[in-house]
Amino acid sequence: MRSMSLHFPSVLLGVLAILDLIQAQDQSGFTSIDCGLPDNSDYSEKSTGISYISDAKFIDTNTSVSKSISHAEMITHQQQLHFVRSFPNGVRNCYRINVNSGTQYLIRATFYYGNYDGLNKPPQFELHFGVNLWDTVKFPNTSRTIMSEIIYIPSKDYIQPCLVNTGKGTPFISTIELRPLNNNSYVNNAESDKLVLSLFMRYDLGSITNIEYRYKDDVYDRIWLPYESSDWRRLTTSLTKDDLHQNSYQPPAIVMSTAVTPINATASLQFHWDADDVNDQYYIYRHFNEVEELAANETRAFNIIVSADNWYGPETPQFRVTNTIFSIKPLTGATRYQVSLSKTKNSTLPPIINAIEVYKVKDFSKLETELDDVDTITNIKNAYGVARNWQGDPCAPAKYMWKGLNCSFDHLNPPRITSLNLSSSGMTGQIHYSLSKLTMLQYLDLSNNSLNGPLPEFLNNLESLRVLNVRKNKLTGLVPSELLERSKTGSLSLSVDDNPGLCTKKSCGKKSLFVPLIASFSALIVAVLLIYLGFWIFRRHKVTSRNSKKRGSLETKHQAFSYTEILDITDNFKTIVGEGGFGKVYVGLLQNHTQVAVKILSPSSMQGYKEFQSEAQLLMIVHHRNLVSLIGYCDEDEIKALVYEYMANGNLQQHLSVKNTNILKWNERLNIAVDSAHGLDYLHNGCKPPIMHRDLKPSNILLDENMHAKIADFGLSRAFSDDIDSHISTRPAGTLGYVDPEYQRTGNTNKKNDIYSFGIILFELITGRKALERTSEETIHILKWVIPIVEGGDIQNVVDPRLQGEFSVNSAWKVVEIAMSCISPNAVERPDMSQILAELKECLSLDMVQRNCGNTTAELISAATISETTLLAR
Ligand SMILES: *[C@@H]1O[C@H](CO)[C@@H](O)[C@H](O)[C@H]1NC(C)=O
Ligand SMILES: *[C@@H]1O[C@H](CO)[C@@H](O)[C@H](O)[C@H]1NC(C)=O
Ligand SMILES: *[C@@H]1O[C@H](CO)[C@@H](O)[C@H](O)[C@H]1NC(C)=O
Ligand SMILES: *[C@@H]1O[C@H](CO)[C@@H](O)[C@H](O)[C@H]1NC(C)=O
Ligand SMILES: *[C@@H]1O[C@H](CO)[C@@H](O)[C@H](O)[C@H]1NC(C)=O
Ligand SMILES: *[C@@H]1O[C@H](CO)[C@@H](O)[C@H](O)[C@H]1NC(C)=O
Ligand SMILES: *[C@@H]1O[C@H](CO)[C@@H](O)[C@H](O)[C@H]1NC(C)=O
Ligand SMILES: *[C@@H]1O[C@H](CO)[C@@H](O)[C@H](O)[C@H]1NC(C)=O
Ligand SMILES: *[C@@H]1O[C@H](CO)[C@@H](O)[C@H](O)[C@H]1NC(C)=O
Repeated sequence: MRSMSLHFPSVLLGVLAILDLIQAQDQSGFTSIDCGLPDNSDYSEKSTGISYISDAKFIDTNTSVSKSISHAEMITHQQQLHFVRSFPNGVRNCYRINVNSGTQYLIRATFYYGNYDGLNKPPQFELHFGVNLWDTVKFPNTSRTIMSEIIYIPSKDYIQPCLVNTGKGTPFISTIELRPLNNNSYVNNAESDKLVLSLFMRYDLGSITNIEYRYKDDVYDRIWLPYESSDWRRLTTSLTKDDLHQNSYQPPAIVMSTAVTPINATASLQFHWDADDVNDQYYIYRHFNEVEELAANETRAFNIIVSADNWYGPETPQFRVTNTIFSIKPLTGATRYQVSLSKTKNSTLPPIINAIEVYKVKDFSKLETELDDVDTITNIKNAYGVARNWQGDPCAPAKYMWKGLNCSFDHLNPPRITSLNLSSSGMTGQIHYSLSKLTMLQYLDLSNNSLNGPLPEFLNNLESLRVLNVRKNKLTGLVPSELLERSKTGSLSLSVDDNPGLCTKKSCGKKSLFVPLIASFSALIVAVLLIYLGFWIFRRHKVTSRNSKKRGSLETKHQAFSYTEILDITDNFKTIVGEGGFGKVYVGLLQNHTQVAVKILSPSSMQGYKEFQSEAQLLMIVHHRNLVSLIGYCDEDEIKALVYEYMANGNLQQHLSVKNTNILKWNERLNIAVDSAHGLDYLHNGCKPPIMHRDLKPSNILLDENMHAKIADFGLSRAFSDDIDSHISTRPAGTLGYVDPEYQRTGNTNKKNDIYSFGIILFELITGRKALERTSEETIHILKWVIPIVEGGDIQNVVDPRLQGEFSVNSAWKVVEIAMSCISPNAVERPDMSQILAELKECLSLDMVQRNCGNTTAELISAATISETTLLAR
């Protein structure tokens, strides 16, 4: 019976309606891939206006081919179906597409055969999603278009749709489409946000045009099919998208302008579907909107019943207001699901329904290989240009494991790479540091290649290693003593022979015995040693001079670090202190014993590279005591890293978290607010051109050992008078909960977006609540909670109860007032950062006055606040 309605209390409708307008009527966030389209081409499809791009950069084009359907077929089909990519080689071929992890996406794959191969026999194959089976693609006849669609929240910053040959013809694919959805819908409204929903049906009921609708009618590009039944009568109204009060599901106005009602006005409205399997789980979303203007003596109210434990009522659709009814638990256990809408006794009118969606739960629970191992093996693959069909997940499913690998599988933990055999793979260059990060490796075979350089000590980090084979290479230098030691005790089987330049301590020792005997030979060795030493000094010299050159051409303060220096500083990436949007953050120690934080761009997030560069460039030029400062960076092929000053007290989010027992005092909170305002004021008003942060949130406010706050993470910042850059930033920026609704609506960026986010942070400081507080039932935005209490004039209930009343009422009111002005729906009314800073400083002094003068003043001041309360409620 746990159904719920998405009806908002009318008081806050204004605020929430804006909050929920995540997507403007453009294609921002859409990824529309036309598979097989020649590299670097793109176009806008004529009827939908959707912009498609080629798939070439998402797939290995060496193992696949681009084909087109016949000309006759092209005329009758939309352009995105004209090309296909077909996979004659390899059993599994995977796309790799970057996404924003944590965002809810609709992901759709489309297949149109169109006799592209001239065989007139459509194949049958499997579509996988990473390691999990997504669908089996079969064609009932040659002219059918097959679509598979899921709603899913990726936990990584990429997805890998794969086509798998099952021996029934060559797999192919026509399009892949990704649409970010509103976070307050579908999966996120269900009990478990680990769900994967696959489309079962989506109908536009009562359609009078009998055509299917998608983008631009649907901002999320869902495809709505018309459906009718002889038991139903159509009801229609004219409705534009501006007339319709939307909710977070945003069904298109054209779909919501029609509805069906039973022909027999006293009967109930019914429909059903049959399950393939009694254990299947379904989620159902029913969309309602009253299409008739009811007279005063008319009512329409009905109950919605699916089964004994799934009913909702009475529902009274409102004129031109979308209401979506769903349950947060799945329907399961039946072979037929019968939905019936029956009018209540009082209702003068029969039930109606405008649109319906049913999704089936998919099981995507198979574990993917540990992400660190994936990143590492991908690095190795790229570093050596390994020419094997290494695609998709390295280990799973075991059937499609990368050739040359072996992995550990248990059912609880992600698979790990335990064995790597790159023997006879034509590898050149040195032994790559990444190899030492495959920490579970037991077997490593690099034999019969042309590897040069030393046998590095870092291989000793591989604690589980039992077999190391580097035979038949061109390695030089000494074999590390630890490896020899392990080989001597029998814990490691070490094969190093057939490397003419490599010597174990033992063999070198033998040679030294011969030195006095053969003098000329020893001279030769000395010469070789001298050359080697000279080369070494030369290399060192080269490195430093290159660094100083870089230093000269950039700002003097910032240092370019090399990859090996980063390894030194972080002690081989020993301690992780955080994980940001595009990589991990490690603790490090410079040679002068200064502690630093080192942010490494993960190789799997190339999308983040732009943000990395933009952050690095900005940090080079801005400098302020309330902005986290950059000490240096590393921009080499192996690694991209930023080296920051270390902030000993973590971030504000951690301090405000309910888990933190060391509660921030009121004056500490005020100081943090003032510090952050200083930093932001500098970005807005002290920099030319001004800089917007664009992703302000408590996790981006860091605290040093004295609890001084500094603003971090300029990943999304961009100097906004820089017109050359501004057209790149079409992607929605920011974090849900902190993003200015005005920005979401218009896409216009200006300083006032930051002011809004700052207002939300102030409210978090005041209340100790999160911007989005999630209960099992719903997600509550802090404003929805705080505004009614503020308007009620009840400061004691606004301020964080964990302070147990230890705050000055007067300064609290003042901060609330500042925060209220920051979140004004009308951006023009929001104050400038300089003004906010000045007022926050005043709060700080009010707070000190009160603490110094004790309770008498407090009472006087709380009397004075009454006028402020009335001011707020205006
Ligand atoms: C594809 O083939 C080209 C030319 O043969 C080669 O340079 C390139 O490295 C190959 N790409 C991959 C991913 O194997
Ligand atoms: C949805 O929420 C996730 C995590 O809470 C966040 O990372 C993502 O940016 C949000 N997406 C949108 C479109 O706001
Ligand atoms: C293919 O199937 C579709 C729908 O099932 C049907 O409408 C169409 O007539 C069929 N075409 C042929 C050539 O059988
Ligand atoms: C209309 O439905 C009611 C209730 O289901 C039923 O009793 C009645 O016979 C139906 N009328 C017609 C004309 O079918
Ligand atoms: C409602 O009132 C109108 C006249 O205003 C009348 O014609 C109609 O029958 C009434 N309907 C009901 C259900 O009472
Ligand atoms: C139905 O009628 C009863 C009694 O007249 C009334 O108490 C109730 O509020 C009405 N329900 C609706 C939904 O109008
Ligand atoms: C992988 O390891 C397992 C367990 O050690 C072994 O049974 C299997 O044969 C290995 N597979 C390959 C391809 O080496
Ligand atoms: C490693 O690969 C080589 C060449 O591909 C092969 O000869 C050898 O048997 C492999 N070793 C193991 C343990 O599978
Ligand atoms: C060594 O590798 C070469 C190709 O790189 C191959 O032709 C040869 O057979 C390999 N030798 C052994 C012993 O595996």
